[in-house]
Amino acid sequence: MTMTMQADVPAATARTVYLNGEFLPSDRAAVSVDDRGFLFSDGVYEVTRVLSGQFVERGRHRRRLERGLRALEIQLTTAELDVLDDVADRLIVDNGLGTGEAMVYLQITRGAAFPRTHQFPSTHTRPTIYLSAAALSSKEELRERGVSVITVPDIRWARCDLKTVNLLPNTLARQKAAVVGAYEALFVRDGVLLEGSQTNLFAVIDGELRTAPVTNYILAGVTRDVVLEVARSAGIHVREFPVMLDEICRATEFFLTSTTNDVMPIVQIDAQLVSDGRPGPVTQQLHQAFMERVSWGFGQ
Ligand code: PDD
Repeated sequence: MTMTMQADVPAATARTVYLNGEFLPSDRAAVSVDDRGFLFSDGVYEVTRVLSGQFVERGRHRRRLERGLRALEIQLTTAELDVLDDVADRLIVDNGLGTGEAMVYLQITRGAAFPRTHQFPSTHTRPTIYLSAAALSSKEELRERGVSVITVPDIRWARCDLKTVNLLPNTLARQKAAVVGAYEALFVRDGVLLEGSQTNLFAVIDGELRTAPVTNYILAGVTRDVVLEVARSAGIHVREFPVMLDEICRATEFFLTSTTNDVMPIVQIDAQLVSDGRPGPVTQQLHQAFMERVSWGFGQ
């Protein structure tokens, strides 16, 4: 009886992950209870897109990671960071993700140190390095319809430009969206629409493409950067200037950008439809141009 039951249960499908120098089944990878990522959110992360085994905009993700590490004063050598590209490549292969769409998650914390102290621990503390890979499901149906979003007060700190693992305001905002069936929550600070909980925001107003400028109040998204480039080369007039709450009704299009969303049309903000409630032409044009650009393997 026991044997029959065991045979009926599908084999556990542990993913292969990387933790501190080792490739391990995910169910055997464990981080210390003294890890400062766990205790203080003392670390940074990156999410990188992989199309048919090719990493999208690897150089830009790497530069943003290095900037974050510098800001947090987490010391890793160039050689130690270079190895992570090989690790990411191997995770794609070992997890059978070499075809189709996938993403690699990377997190680096200041490491494990006891006793718990707010100030940085000894410089001998080794950073914790974790990478994993996962398949990305298609969002094409959603993209055709467009998504609805809500607005929420921005309760985040004043260094939103750093991609730290301190994501509590983002998760609370996203949960607020989820309970009302919305796809994303947009942060509003002093009447200004800044970005989503895990996306950047664009709008078309008076024929002009607008997005919040890169300041300490948004994350400089890699997708945002590439979309700005493809928009400029398509001759679209671009202004890095944020949308005010009271301009929502004047905008003819809105869309989100991120590594896992590419260009995602917004068709409703709170109770208000955007134009006729369907994805707009500039959004569709930019999505197509963006996909062409990343599929051709630019910016490796
Ligand atoms: N989110 N703004 C915020 C607050 C983000 O967390 C993200 C990324 C972006 C878009 O950045 P990029 O185009 O580089 O992905 C903007 C990642 C994907 C996440 O948390 O899953």
